[in-house]
Amino acid sequence: MFAAKASDAANGTVTRAIAVTLRARRRAPPRPYPVKKFKSFSDVIAQRKAEARRSLVVQVNSETSFNELYGYCSKYASIKDIHHYRNSEKEHFMLIEFETEENVKEVIKACSSHQKDVDVMPIESPFLWFRAAVNKKELHSCLKTKKLATKDGIEPIDDDLLYEELLNCETVTQQIQHLYERTKLNDLGVRLRYMVARQFEIIFKSLYANVAVQPFGSSVNGYGRMGCDLDLVLSNVITEEMSDARRRLVYQEKREECAGGGRGGARQLELLGMLLELRVPGAGAVRRVLAARVPILKCTHHLAALHCDLAASNTSGVYMSELLWQLGALDPRVRPLIFVVRRWASAVGLTNSHPGRWITNFPLTLMVLFFLQQKRKSGFILPSLKLLVDRAGKEDIRIAEENINCTFLRDLNKLPHEEYGQSDEDLHTLLLQFFEFYAQFDFKEYAISINKGVPIRKPNALPLYIVNPLEQALNVSRNVSYEECERLRAEVRNAAWLLEEGLEGKKSDDWGVLRLIERKDSRSLKQLLKVGNSHRLVSVKDLFNEDDEDVPVTKSKKTDAEVDKSVKEMSRVTVEKKEQKIKFKNSQIANEVYRIRRNKIV
Ligand code: GTP
Ligand code: MG
Repeated sequence: MFAAKASDAANGTVTRAIAVTLRARRRAPPRPYPVKKFKSFSDVIAQRKAEARRSLVVQVNSETSFNELYGYCSKYASIKDIHHYRNSEKEHFMLIEFETEENVKEVIKACSSHQKDVDVMPIESPFLWFRAAVNKKELHSCLKTKKLATKDGIEPIDDDLLYEELLNCETVTQQIQHLYERTKLNDLGVRLRYMVARQFEIIFKSLYANVAVQPFGSSVNGYGRMGCDLDLVLSNVITEEMSDARRRLVYQEKREECAGGGRGGARQLELLGMLLELRVPGAGAVRRVLAARVPILKCTHHLAALHCDLAASNTSGVYMSELLWQLGALDPRVRPLIFVVRRWASAVGLTNSHPGRWITNFPLTLMVLFFLQQKRKSGFILPSLKLLVDRAGKEDIRIAEENINCTFLRDLNKLPHEEYGQSDEDLHTLLLQFFEFYAQFDFKEYAISINKGVPIRKPNALPLYIVNPLEQALNVSRNVSYEECERLRAEVRNAAWLLEEGLEGKKSDDWGVLRLIERKDSRSLKQLLKVGNSHRLVSVKDLFNEDDEDVPVTKSKKTDAEVDKSVKEMSRVTVEKKEQKIKFKNSQIANEVYRIRRNKIV
């Protein structure tokens, strides 16, 4: 069983790593997965951005508005596909992708605004709504052959159903793969995130020259789950042509910007926050987090059903996402493994959606990548970042703000095949090895660094040290307390034990990864709800009276102010209302459900 001790790995690592690489090259062991042609991150991003420029999001009455909307828009443009989704208030939306960008311009030209309401100042944005036809003669319809590409497209899988499906998998490897397939951010989720980025960009372009709004973080790095937050950065786009000194006409600047600390400064963020509040349809509940290392604006976007974090300068965050995406693309086991580890960490309470003295998903992801860089008998699953830096060419040079060097190989097709994807361990083995590796890792003496891919001596006594790959003097887990680090060590040990124990003998109703990813509190509820010896559970729906189920659907259009208010209050009110309304058939179960709900609200 593979479980390199940190101290072992740290001694003489360079020579041994080279020796192993050479041996691996000589032997060229059989690859578990065929070598594929890699697309570049920038191609994927460019494709998604182009898709967003060809798309519009239209609020409609229900999914049956499809025919009418299709017929109406076809008058102006040719439609590629229409995707349907509902937001958290159960309002209906259609994301329409047209054949060309010109098509979108034609449709936008034909847009109307609230003429009756003089207080409402409409704004040109890719988020629209579909007004009811004035008379029946205007009703349109589309060919019967045209169908919605997606219905209810951003609804995450229900936990009970997911667990049932995992229960029915044959192997732990299948469970991990299935968990990944069923919970990863889907195509519509990605499209919507690019629509929001485009909407923000259109509005900010009215104030700043040569800017772009780019998604980064889990929305684009390949590790995002359905419903993940959208991290955005407003960055300068300066092409070589623009900085050509022969261009003699130059924009005048607003010198006062410097007083506010440039675009990333507090006053500029204040302005962006006001813009989001006043001029961006859908955006609301804006909060300024200025004390963070990278100051951000937080907001909700109720039309796209997501939460956003907007930074005014953090290009290195985009390059970091590119790096993480590339490592995930190199071997098909990387993303499923990171998904199951992230899910496990959330289930055992190691990670938490609130900031605090605990580890977050980003450093946790680095821990998994680091583990996959460890040498094993047949070679390496992932290369070190150093290798990607060493192989970078002129075309890969990227310098982010504050001179952060983000240069590394971008074209993965140039990476020798023997440098990655060499081991044939399945996901089950890798997950167990991951827990065992960190159960034995010497967190006291060593830091985790994906730059060299081997443990390095800690430069200080902080409990957990995970080197920021692009700014190696920084520790991305500097916030983690001693207690949280100890808890991490205890939980990896426990997970290794649970995973091994769960495979002995007959498959129980929480076999394999189920016992790692089910929350402890819902596990105790599950015991309560078990029907006899059967694996089947009483459906949670059966616990409630029928009339408690439906949350009324808002049909009327709201003003932004109303919507903002409702977004702010949404979670509190929904929870309060439900707690008042729900009548349980069984008081013991009721108590348990209330306890779990309370825990979820925090
Ligand atoms: P979730 O939002 O939890 O799904 O994951 P995420 O990867 O998006 O993490 P998060 O939203 O916390 O951060 C967004 C991105 O910012 C990450 O993917 C990193 O690229 C970057 N990032 C996060 N934390 C740090 C940090 O401590 N230092 C640096 N330099 N970058 C960070
Ligand atoms: Mg994020």
